[in-house]
This record gives sequence, C-alpha cells and structure tokens, in this order.
Amino acid sequence: MLFDLFEGERSRLTLGVGAALLGGFARERADELISHIHDLSAQAPFRHMETRGGKRMSVAMLNCGPLGWVSDRSGYRYTASDPLTGKAWPAFPPLFLDLAARAAQEMGFQDFVPDACLINRYQPGARLSLHQDMDEQDHVAPIVSVSLGLPATFLWGGLHRNMRPARHQVFHGDVVVWGGPSRMIFHGVDVLKDGFHPATGTVRFNLTFRKVR
Ligand code: SIN
Ligand code: FE2
Repeated sequence: MLFDLFEGERSRLTLGVGAALLGGFARERADELISHIHDLSAQAPFRHMETRGGKRMSVAMLNCGPLGWVSDRSGYRYTASDPLTGKAWPAFPPLFLDLAARAAQEMGFQDFVPDACLINRYQPGARLSLHQDMDEQDHVAPIVSVSLGLPATFLWGGLHRNMRPARHQVFHGDVVVWGGPSRMIFHGVDVLKDGFHPATGTVRFNLTFRKVR
C-alpha cells in the first residue's frame, strides 16, 4: 500500500512551540490499541453526537477514562458517565496512559496524566471542522492525538479561526502533540477519503488524550 511505504521514514515535524507531529510514534503498539478500541466499543458504543445547533456530527465517538467529552443541544462538556447508558465510561487501558505519557514526554511535557480520552471513528466522508479544544480547565497540558488506520489530512491553523490552516497527512501510528503556547491552536480533519487499511478496514480511528481537571 502506497502510504505504508512512507510511514517508517517519517520523523518529527515541528508544528510550533510545544507542538509536533511524531511520525510513527505509536506504530509498534497500533494493533493493540485497535484491539482495545474494539473492546471499549463493546462497553460503550460509538455514537454520532449532536452539535449545540442540533446537527449530527459525521464523526462517531466514544470515551474512556474518568471523564468523557459529550455534545448535545445543551452544549459541549465533560461527564463522568455515559449519557446513553448512565454507566461510568470504560476505564483506561494501561497502554493508553503509558503511550500518552511517553508522547507528551517526548515533547518535554513531564508527568502527563490525562483524565479523558475521546475516541473518534471517521468513515469516508466524515470530517471535523476547525476548532479549539476549549472545554478543558487545563489550557496548558498537551493534547495527545493518535492516528490509526486510514490516512487523513490534519488541519493545523493558528490562534484565530480565520488563519488559513496548514495541511499535514497523518498516517497509521502517527501522533500529534500540542501543548503550552500551542495548546489553543485551531485544528481539524479534512473529509476522509475512501480507502482500505489492513489494520482497520475502511475507517480511521483517532484517540485524543486530554487533561480536563
Ligand atoms: C480532535 O481534534 O479531537 C481529533 C483530531 C483528529 O482526529 O486527528
Ligand atoms: Fe480537537
């Protein structure tokens, strides 16, 4: 597969102060991460949340860890339980915490202990429009974002919505970290193209680790 040829050769691409794309950083553990995602989705299903304005999001989501990000007509927030089931979100697999801490450490953020992990599932046609991660109380601790499966175009903008974003391809096993002065950068994911990846089939998964409190 074409994108596999390039994967192993990519290394760190600096995006800003405290921000970089770490090519292949999660590659060795990617199969395990995906199998955890399947286990987690048996405990809390993927669902398409509604935006505040009542639009169905094209990306399907679930959470694991103490807190989970939710969106509905009353807005965006973190909750300790899944509104669909009333049960606590499934616990973090230890590998998730370990990987997130190692990626943060790689960028100089010591002792990163996330309390939330949003799991996004993109099917072809799904996209995530340009946004800032605003709903966390901590606006300095990094966001650690792990790409799995189909490649995507990650949009990396500026501190204002009207700055034209740079476009970076993110591949299976790539990790993007942004924290410190880059923590509030606008970012998003362009419309996912059709494709097939041996590890995930026709989808892209993304894990984003956050420190909310
Ligand atoms: C996000 O901004 O929450 C997800 C980014 C991605 O899917 O790469
Ligand atoms: Fe985000």
